[in-house]
Amino acid sequence: MSLLSVDVSQNGDIKNVDSSSSVFEMEEFDFSRLPDRPRTLNMERQRSFDERSLVDIPMGLSPLPPSRADNFNRVLDHLDSIFSPSRRSGLNTPRSHFGYEPHPMTAEAWETLRRSLVYFRGRPVGTIAALDNSEEKVNYDQVFVRDFVPSALAFLMNGEPEIVKNFILKTLRLQSWEKKIDRFQLGEGVMPASFKVLHDPVRNTETLIADFGESAIGRVAPVDSGFWWIILLRAYTKSTGDSSLAEMPECQKGMRLILSLCLSEGFNTFPTLLCADGCCMIDRRMGVYGYPIEIQALFFMALRCALVLLKQDAQGKDFIERVMKRLHALSYHMRNYFWLDLKQLNDIYRYKTEEYSHTAVNKFNVMPDSLPEWVFDFMPMHGGYFIGNVGPSKMDFRWFCLGNCIAILSSLATPEQATAIMDLIESRWEELVGDMPLKVCYPAIENHEWRIVTGCDPKNTRWSYHNGGSWPVLLWLLTAACIKTGRPQIARRAIELAEARLSKDGWPEYYDGKLGRYIGKQARRYQTWSISGYLVAKMMLEDPSHLGMVAHEEDKQLKPVLKRSSSWTF
Ligand code: GLC
Repeated sequence: MSLLSVDVSQNGDIKNVDSSSSVFEMEEFDFSRLPDRPRTLNMERQRSFDERSLVDIPMGLSPLPPSRADNFNRVLDHLDSIFSPSRRSGLNTPRSHFGYEPHPMTAEAWETLRRSLVYFRGRPVGTIAALDNSEEKVNYDQVFVRDFVPSALAFLMNGEPEIVKNFILKTLRLQSWEKKIDRFQLGEGVMPASFKVLHDPVRNTETLIADFGESAIGRVAPVDSGFWWIILLRAYTKSTGDSSLAEMPECQKGMRLILSLCLSEGFNTFPTLLCADGCCMIDRRMGVYGYPIEIQALFFMALRCALVLLKQDAQGKDFIERVMKRLHALSYHMRNYFWLDLKQLNDIYRYKTEEYSHTAVNKFNVMPDSLPEWVFDFMPMHGGYFIGNVGPSKMDFRWFCLGNCIAILSSLATPEQATAIMDLIESRWEELVGDMPLKVCYPAIENHEWRIVTGCDPKNTRWSYHNGGSWPVLLWLLTAACIKTGRPQIARRAIELAEARLSKDGWPEYYDGKLGRYIGKQARRYQTWSISGYLVAKMMLEDPSHLGMVAHEEDKQLKPVLKRSSSWTF
């Protein structure tokens, strides 16, 4: 398998390796003769990084024997053979090294992405949420942790890790701030939702201000920020092969603080994480309180990342053990109780209620009458998904894109479940993709339900914003999930749709309507994560080996126990 993509010089620039060379010549080229090959080395180190860490783990998750281990790598091998190395990203160069003509949008996207850079004391530390000056800024002039993730991945894929390192270290410093909302002090580990650089032209100084939820609409702390931070730390380590950042005592401590928050014991009877409405990408009241899929999937992914990043020192060991226990319980719970397919839907439809004791089948006492009408039509013969939420007498049957994609990438979904999710996306293309990828959730809620669930939020009217709006940023997640499941053609179809409009429309934050045909009512233009999400999707398709940064292979130790449906077998 050729892991060579583009050649990156020591300062991170892409070297133009004779763009006139034919594909054949490039493949035959002896790269070992080049004076520096950091990118190649990095890719090799990427491999050994996770392997080393797994070997070091004391219990449970032992490394898989080579014969079984690399289902995931086989996918990459297979994909590498589909995507010939001649098709490499054009990135910010007008023409790529292998004669492949990049889409004209990529050059514009890179240019805009670079304009969105935020500097602190001369160093780039993140990207602004949106470059739109026509609308009221609100907090779109800040660097959001979650929004920076696709930007970071784009820079990593382009061989520019410095900004990602700066961001990781800067947000780590913010984490150590004392965080207060009125008279109440937040947990030590909370990471900010966003931050901003304040310039004082008189004193010629720069300071940072951060928002941990105390300024946010609704005053909710971002539960996802800490998870994204850990996920990004692993992506950085995987991509650069440089584990010294993750090994820094400050980073280890930052991780432990985040983990302390979500691994702490309390009154919860479930391994899932209990949270308030609006604590993630969906940051306004949308009925996503309790155990929303977005948080559970990110929680799982962050735990898997932490497992390979934590050092086995005196403090780390205890955390590694707790992480492993939680991973086992969480995957069991999610795979069994959040999973919905035709068979499971039929079982719920016929559920008995009021069952008592541990023999109960309907453990959460879900009333079959609470099944919404739409779900019967929505469920295809083949396919399934993780539903939005499960709690006492509660199942939120809505489809949420981010949680399901992260479930595939983190291998929270078994391979059969991952295939079923992709089957669902294919068979419900009009509903979930429509004219503009991708619906953040499906379906929208309206009328009385909208009044009750959103509290009459005018920004969240049906098929708008977080209430069934279409968010281009989700394209990178879909693309990564497509590559992981060996179905890149699905991503290609979605990218083509985006390419027909995104740039012409000025890279909107989101689209409205059942098909996502209208630029969102209050959508910002030049929304950075719409831009970087597109770039990441393109780069991943062109070089599937990038997937390793954000994907985890299946861990056979986390086997599900129950057999639920004929559409997924173990
Ligand atoms: C909106 C989105 C949120 C995003 C922020 C900045 O508030 O709901 O997910 O992080 O804008 O783009």
